[in-house]
Amino acid sequence: MLRTHTCGELRLADAGKQATLAGWVQRSRKMGGMTFVDIRDRYGITQLVFNHEADAALCDQANALGREYVIRATGTVAERSNKNPNLETGDIEILVSGLEVLNESKTPPFTIEDNTDGGDDLRMKYRYLDLRRKAVRDNLMLRHRMAFETRRYLDQLGFLEVETPILVGSTPEGARDFVVPSRMNPGEFYALPQSPQLFKQLLMVSGFDRYFQIAKCFRDEDLRADRQPEFTQIDCEMSFVEQEDVLQIFEGMVKHLFKFVKGIDFTDPFPRMTWADAMKYYGSDKPDIRFDMRFVELKEAVGGHNFGVFDAADYVGGICAKGCATYTRKQLDELTDFVKRPQVGAKGLVYIRCEAGGTFKSSIDKFYSQDDLRAIAALFQAEPGDLILILSGPMRKTQKALCELRLEMGGRLGLRPHDVYAPLWVIDFPLLEWDDETQRFYAMHHPFTSPNPDDIPLLDTDPGAVRATAYDMVVNGIELGGGSIRIHERELQQRMFKLLGFTPEQAEAQFGFLMSAFQYGAPPHGGLAFGLDRFVSLFAGLDSIRDCIAFPKNNSGRDVMFDAPSPLAQSQLDELNIALVEPKK
Ligand code: AMO
Repeated sequence: MLRTHTCGELRLADAGKQATLAGWVQRSRKMGGMTFVDIRDRYGITQLVFNHEADAALCDQANALGREYVIRATGTVAERSNKNPNLETGDIEILVSGLEVLNESKTPPFTIEDNTDGGDDLRMKYRYLDLRRKAVRDNLMLRHRMAFETRRYLDQLGFLEVETPILVGSTPEGARDFVVPSRMNPGEFYALPQSPQLFKQLLMVSGFDRYFQIAKCFRDEDLRADRQPEFTQIDCEMSFVEQEDVLQIFEGMVKHLFKFVKGIDFTDPFPRMTWADAMKYYGSDKPDIRFDMRFVELKEAVGGHNFGVFDAADYVGGICAKGCATYTRKQLDELTDFVKRPQVGAKGLVYIRCEAGGTFKSSIDKFYSQDDLRAIAALFQAEPGDLILILSGPMRKTQKALCELRLEMGGRLGLRPHDVYAPLWVIDFPLLEWDDETQRFYAMHHPFTSPNPDDIPLLDTDPGAVRATAYDMVVNGIELGGGSIRIHERELQQRMFKLLGFTPEQAEAQFGFLMSAFQYGAPPHGGLAFGLDRFVSLFAGLDSIRDCIAFPKNNSGRDVMFDAPSPLAQSQLDELNIALVEPKK
């Protein structure tokens, strides 16, 4: 080894020892006849000291070092007079007797410090430098720990990690596929897997019983803070299980990760909420239950007062923000602007201020008496000092907007701290979702999800009302994972494809292998998948999953370091039998 110790290793107990360190120059300072150089590696930072009086040539050599030079220094570990409590090695320094430059460095395009001056694009272009920063490195170390603990937990329970292919056939799982042309099969394309869903089900048919894989998945969808075009799932499947078994095993996994990675021990069972309640009380299938502030439906209570907006609305609902009656006109205007933003989509905001002395001030005073307002406030169990905020309009759209407003108020009131975790199972999702535009049903989870056995008769009469045996794991309003008990009978799967608008021929063409497998003794099975990137960013307290991925794509799906995607040479296109047309404007 070129070194005896790492840059994060030496302590006061090592004083007097000889040590050789290798690493990068973080910074250097000249003070009188002394030069101090901080040397950094993955493990930490150690201060090197050069004394001009003791060895002028060596000190000159140190003064010539630039930022990010790769160096190797040998010397004696000594106690520091001015200790640095912010550094783990802050009690010691190395009195250097020998220095070697292993490689020089150009001045980096941004400072490699926790608070860097580099903007997003620059940091992504030089991601290999960005990854030298402790904050980013820590996220990847956390990711490693979580993947490791996941494997440890699942291995103990007999889960086998099996790799599944990356070049697969295109299947309709919800998002658009990324496709790969096949040179050997002109005019034909592979797709990259949106998830290993069908493979894991086939592994159950093969009798593997308990499967998992930390698997790369690819989806060509619009990007958001919690979405990348390529991401990683902790993908799992089990045979001979019912929903309760899956929930128990994977609640155990989430608890294991919290305990061994975050040091948080969840002893109580995670709460569960039906999808219907999640929508009714939080307007979202992934409610943030770190705080309550549930919706109160008001359609009945506010009707018949000649207030046209409420009377015409399909849905009227509100929330109560504790202690916010002091909100000024300006603050209320801000909230109104907030709900009117296109992403939120409400038309306007009604407020009721619950004032001291039991009186009310409201934007709908003209239509509602003090008694009316008191009756509305009672539905929220509002107290003097509280602020009631009400939205109205089409049901789902208004619930969604009210959900955004609730999250905004939760944020303003400090009710969503990063270091408080509120896990929740959302269960009883609908099996199907109606799409007005295409006038057909879509699978809410995916086409392989089993209907709730109690609702199977409804498949013919009222498919929209059928509940799925599907569940999501939600923490702090983030969908961490989801899964379902699967259909394992050919006949039911065929019915499902029919409901989804596939002709028998289309179903056979796309899923013939699955339908065929179901004829050879498919066991009852089910599973789920967690988004590893989301899990890590939750644990790291990040707002975006990007910083827990070593080499992420930017918001336009580009790898700015590689400059990918990029055009192909004509010869490559020819070999693939591909002719390009002008992109549509
Ligand atoms: P689903 O599509 O719900 O289920 O995905 C499972 C989990 O993967 C994560 N996830 C993503 N993370 C980052 N970027 C994305 N673009 C992205 N898309 C999804 C989420 C999500 O909860 N095969 C099924 C699982 C199953 O039924 O077993 C599936 O893929 O955290």
